Amino acid sequence: MSDSSSWAAIRAELSGPAGLNMGWAAADRHVALGHGEAPALRWVGRDGAERTLTYADLAEHSSRFADALRRLGVRRGETVFTLLPRVPDLVVALLGTLKAGCVAAPLYAAFGPEPLRLRLALGRARAVVTTAALWRRKGPLDVPHALIAGGDAPEGTHDLAALLGAADPQVPVAPTGPDDPALLHFTSGTTGAPKGALTAHDAVVAQVASARAALDLRPGDVYWCTADPGWVTGTVYGVLAPLACGATVVLDEGDFDTARWYGLIERQRVAVWYSTPTAIRLLMRAGDDLPRRFDLTSLRHLASVGEPLNPEAVLWSRRTLGRPFHDTWWQTETGSIMLANRDATPGVLGAPLPGIGAEVWRPDAEGVGELVLRPPWPSLFRGYLDDPARTAACFAEGWYRTGDLVRRGADGLFRFVGRADDVIKASGHRIGPFEVESVLLEHPAVAEAGVIGKPDPVAGEIVKAFVALKPGVAWSDALAAELLGHARRRLGPALAPKEIAVAPSLPHTRSGKILRRLLKARELGLPEGDLSTLEDGAG
Ligand code: PRX
Repeated sequence: MSDSSSWAAIRAELSGPAGLNMGWAAADRHVALGHGEAPALRWVGRDGAERTLTYADLAEHSSRFADALRRLGVRRGETVFTLLPRVPDLVVALLGTLKAGCVAAPLYAAFGPEPLRLRLALGRARAVVTTAALWRRKGPLDVPHALIAGGDAPEGTHDLAALLGAADPQVPVAPTGPDDPALLHFTSGTTGAPKGALTAHDAVVAQVASARAALDLRPGDVYWCTADPGWVTGTVYGVLAPLACGATVVLDEGDFDTARWYGLIERQRVAVWYSTPTAIRLLMRAGDDLPRRFDLTSLRHLASVGEPLNPEAVLWSRRTLGRPFHDTWWQTETGSIMLANRDATPGVLGAPLPGIGAEVWRPDAEGVGELVLRPPWPSLFRGYLDDPARTAACFAEGWYRTGDLVRRGADGLFRFVGRADDVIKASGHRIGPFEVESVLLEHPAVAEAGVIGKPDPVAGEIVKAFVALKPGVAWSDALAAELLGHARRRLGPALAPKEIAVAPSLPHTRSGKILRRLLKARELGLPEGDLSTLEDGAG
């Protein structure tokens, strides 16, 4: 690793007068370097409207946001949530929160009231930035300050535009160091409530290093990450890393639409594109003729993340888009990309980035074992909020345990095998079965619930629920629809099961835990006695 690409050099490069601060590094630093007029954010509205914010605009608005927080009495180290559509205020709120020395906690607008309330409570929310429509739709959320973007602030909330208008754009950035907490992302394991993974300002060092190394991102590149900033990919690689790299970030408010997406690449001249296997499979399904109608020659580097990238998707993109998708691997806890497939070899995750040590831990006869990484690195999470025991359980024998099963080929490159636990990956979103089961159990008809990821040709997996009913309750299509509706109302479309089935009873371990693995084996028609043949078997 050359000196200029080392973390120490990047840390020095990104640090300012007040120390290392992600928000400052992403916006104000470029102004200090004389690039304030460069386009930072190219917003594309749902209706096709466009708005460009320069780095100077972002620096100013986010300073105002930081000052507004201070005026509300929100102090350093306290948590500010965002619950917003993909609009410029989301970026302003994120950067301003970081510049105030507060912890930024993004939420996904497709979450229902239950996951939102849980996360706001776990994160001890001091403020939430949202819209009037979302505020009303999600019901009463318990948070001291609601800042309403886009006007129409309901009673008892603050109008964000008015707060920003009255705030001081010259307010100094809070002095933060590499170890001060910066980001809080909720994530799920097999059991228990979601966990709040905390990363520190130093994470931006590895985020920038990885954006350069794995996404080939250079200053001035037009860059588009299709992930919503309500998810960790959309915060880190949709906003923070590309801004810190000096790119022009495309933020698309609209939902997935094949022709719209190709049109956006053509019109914005997107050079670097970061997306997910589910999105790529949806594009593939729409056929090869459509992309030929667009000028996609601006594309220079394509990368994918979040779920297994099928080899066919790599071959298809090379053939049809003119560039292959490069796989990248990371997770919320690692804070930045750890492995990347530099050569876009189909079926391969890739090799560790510079400075990252990776191993296959305790491989079986086939060479399959858990992917473990050698701590520390700048973006490694600093722990799960209020949960030292679960934090400690992630580390063993000097390694960080990822919970993913991999094997290493003769070429030294890593291949993805599956999860070592019951975590579900639906359209790249990490879903804890426990959170879904808990909501199903609230329904008076349900005695037991077990939730699995069912393989799906497009989404990778979909959430499928199995329920056992209370005595005297009869199964019917109407009850199935009612249970799915109940789950959707409480959990929102991102987490709710898409399918539900009834079972006379659910299989248990001796200690009484539901054997989701067996439910999955039955669903896939695999022999029940041989659970090791499951895709995510081994455990
Ligand atoms: O199982 C791995 C899968 O996504 C998990 C991390 O999910 P999350 O914490 O939500 O992080 C999102 C940021 C990527 C991992 O433990 N995963 C991630 N990348 C890949 C992947 N599975 C297969 N191939 C990948 N490239």
